[in-house]
Amino acid sequence: MNLDFTQIVPYIPFMLEGIWVTLGFVSVSIIFGFILGTLIALIKISRIKFMVGLADAYTSVFRGTPLILQLMIIYFAIPQLTGYNIPPFFAAVLAFGLNSSAYISEIIRAGIQAVEKGQTEAAQALGVPYRPMMKDLILPQALKNILPALMNEFITLTKESAIVSTISYLDLMRRAQVVGSDIYRNFEPLLFVGLIYYLLVMGLTMLGKLLERRLRVSD
Ligand code: ARG
Repeated sequence: MNLDFTQIVPYIPFMLEGIWVTLGFVSVSIIFGFILGTLIALIKISRIKFMVGLADAYTSVFRGTPLILQLMIIYFAIPQLTGYNIPPFFAAVLAFGLNSSAYISEIIRAGIQAVEKGQTEAAQALGVPYRPMMKDLILPQALKNILPALMNEFITLTKESAIVSTISYLDLMRRAQVVGSDIYRNFEPLLFVGLIYYLLVMGLTMLGKLLERRLRVSD
């Protein structure tokens, strides 16, 4: 067996730096995707037909094409039209945020529609206006129910983030490839960043469980 972990030792700090790169654009994408996804979900449950049609079309396109294709269009193809060379960070946040918002909008829409109808009826009977009803009554309940699905989406995004290595953004994945071609050994650096991805996902899983337990206290 041809394994030698000592060779990656000098590269460990370089690879560890990738954690911040990956976590950086993933967390911005998650926030962006969540905000946009919530807005799209609200449009989907509204009764403005034209807007609902647009929101559905948006989801259909972003869910119906590969994420790596969306990333490449934003990074390589848009500059051809606009003449503006978009930095990899922004290309990544745009692609991941837009893509994720399509998935998140469906999760939130389903969550809102799953909140018992009586809740809305009670609020309306008491004369609570639409905005506070949504913000203080329906959305908090929906959020609690969809937490596992949202966590799942964040985990997917964290792992899918590895495709930014294709636009030569120096994330965890790309760093493993760089080290691999430097020392002519790929197994060790790939295994090393694989372990880091796994730990990141475990961290997210634990965070999700903690949040769920917190929210259950209010039951
Ligand atoms: N590999 C899938 C694709 O290319 C993943 C899409 C991202 N998924 C997500 N839940 N945001 O379409």
